[in-house]
Amino acid sequence: MSAEKSASWSYAEQLPTEDEVLLRARERSHELGVPAVSTGVAATLTVLAAASKAQTVVEVGTGAGVSGVALLAGLPGTAVLTTIDVDVDHLKAARESFADAGVATNRTRTISGRASQVLPRLTDGAYDLVFIDADKPSTPTYVEQATRLLKPAGLLIVNNALNHDKVANPAARDEVTTVMRRVERTLREDERLHTALLSTGDGLLLAVRR
Ligand SMILES: C[S@@+](CC[C@H](N)C(=O)[O-])C[C@H]1O[C@@H](n2cnc3c(N)ncnc32)[C@H](O)[C@@H]1O
Repeated sequence: MSAEKSASWSYAEQLPTEDEVLLRARERSHELGVPAVSTGVAATLTVLAAASKAQTVVEVGTGAGVSGVALLAGLPGTAVLTTIDVDVDHLKAARESFADAGVATNRTRTISGRASQVLPRLTDGAYDLVFIDADKPSTPTYVEQATRLLKPAGLLIVNNALNHDKVANPAARDEVTTVMRRVERTLREDERLHTALLSTGDGLLLAVRR
């Protein structure tokens, strides 16, 4: 990356001002050692949630709730976030983050379990937005489930799509890098979808049904 490109990326990441609620959710993430979405990604999630006017959202990988708080900030007040995590301590911290954000308890459904076992239990074509940010090697499975869950015109968002700048490096062939390349190509080559890869944060892959 050129120095100018790198400076532009840092500039964009530093622009959003996060409120106390998001900062406290970041503190919980830090205490638990769980990586949260970047500042730029959090701001983008809020914008996409608001633009989509989604009423039903699935998040795969709750963490301590940074991305959930960012999504809820943009969603209409009637929207419900269903969020899945295998780690009960992460879910407990996320519930604290949602309460801290003043979100009514009936607007979040926190589900504990492996996403590969939970996602198949969710209803076909019932969701407006799916955000994927969990164990990266399983991303293709989650994307496949997301395409089943999404309503027509529903929005799919995949975090870490650039995998620490390795996806763009042809010499990098580790598992997660290969998986992220394959997911991007599969979605891009699917004629039913419009896709875009944003370089925000660690890369956000977007797909929406035509
Ligand atoms: C990168 S963190 C999510 C961060 C969160 N999106 C945020 O920005 O605050 C990934 C989360 O996925 C969870 N996870 C890992 N493997 C999982 C699995 N098989 N099923 C569900 N959740 C899983 C981890 O416990 C962790 O909380």
